[in-house]
Amino acid sequence: MVRLLVCGGGNGAHVLAGLASSNQDIEVRVLTLFGDESKRWTSKMAETGFKVRVYEHGSVKEEIKGLPKFVTNDTALAAADVDVIVITVPAFAHAGYLKALKPYMKSSMILAALPGQSGFEFEVKGLWGDVAKDVNIISFETLPWACRIVEFGHMAEVLGCKEKIMGSINPGKSKEGADLTATLQKSMGEKPELVTYGHIIGMSLMGVNGYIHPCIMYGQWNDWDGKPLKEKPLFYHGVSQEGAQILSDVSDEIMAIAKAITKQFPQVDLSNVQHVHDWYKKCYPKEIKDNSTLYSCLRTNNAYNGLTHPTVQDANGMFSVDYKYRYLTEDIPYGLAVIKGIAVVVGLNTPATDKILLWAQKCMGKEYLIDGKFCGKDIKETRSPQAYGISSIKDMLDLN
Ligand code: NAI
Repeated sequence: MVRLLVCGGGNGAHVLAGLASSNQDIEVRVLTLFGDESKRWTSKMAETGFKVRVYEHGSVKEEIKGLPKFVTNDTALAAADVDVIVITVPAFAHAGYLKALKPYMKSSMILAALPGQSGFEFEVKGLWGDVAKDVNIISFETLPWACRIVEFGHMAEVLGCKEKIMGSINPGKSKEGADLTATLQKSMGEKPELVTYGHIIGMSLMGVNGYIHPCIMYGQWNDWDGKPLKEKPLFYHGVSQEGAQILSDVSDEIMAIAKAITKQFPQVDLSNVQHVHDWYKKCYPKEIKDNSTLYSCLRTNNAYNGLTHPTVQDANGMFSVDYKYRYLTEDIPYGLAVIKGIAVVVGLNTPATDKILLWAQKCMGKEYLIDGKFCGKDIKETRSPQAYGISSIKDMLDLN
């Protein structure tokens, strides 16, 4: 029997809670600290049961029934004697769960972030201190499913499930990598295959949304004349050559960070860091029609059909860019700013990353870079190493 605690109350949390609790060998609990979600989920589930509808190739494949043992906002109750904790919320909500869970963590536990997004490991270390050294921490690159809640507390849908997802482990005192992955795999079912390797900082460097979204935004809006548009521009399929090029340049800088780290510390495995063009070829082998360049990957990926830029509509029905959307407000503090911070610790110049950060901070009314130095007042709101007082590579990598 594995005791699994799912943290969160959104789309991913619904799906994981439903899928895992359909397995007789897993006891599933849900902890949601947001608003009245635990109350609403508990009463709805008692009334109507709980299920996950799974689609394959656009039609319903199956409906999986599985009832979590309980849903609560009481962290002590939720965390008592659990084996695995999976946090499945957007990155800005990670800290609330980490603070609440800290007193209940034991060295044999597994803490997984699904997904971790950039800086998750720094945040755990910053908030937990020495407790973080004991616990097995796993950060995954993404959520396994494209999914959504159909009815809160009653049903969620899996629109698509990835074949494989990649994660990295920061092992605690008591467990080995293979065991940990197997325990988690059991919680999630057969698909997706969980593949874990490499140093956990690789997941920060491969938090690709943290650079894909801001770079494409930059390519579209950097030279915008401010005149509202008749239609929302396509996000990926409308990417400019400039947007694709700067994304490639940022990705080159990230590869250079990984190379500089492994040159200095050859024992650190950063084979989990790859160029975003290779990442696209790996992740969307069937969906991309022309994978010859990064630009063509973005423009011909069927998974991106119809996705548009974040915009606001005015009284005349015209569209202007929305700088408050998560493509900047989350993807900078939990993405590109973390990568910049890692580059600073490693001692590398990152002109392409700086160009995007400077543009984004202006759009967001934030301050990260001042005269080329990563020392702005809003760094403390990011998950960069600097926000947690980490300044050496050894400290950043947890090397002895
Ligand atoms: P979601 O948008 O459904 O998360 C909402 C939940 O987060 C809420 O129900 C609440 O439990 C929590 N939350 C929201 N605001 C909060 C606050 N201020 N304080 C505390 N908790 C708060 O997220 P979803 O869809 O489950 O995704 C989780 C992560 O996976 C996100 O980072 C998302 O970008 C990523 N992802 C999601 C995919 C999807 O298909 N849903 C696909 C790929 C990645």
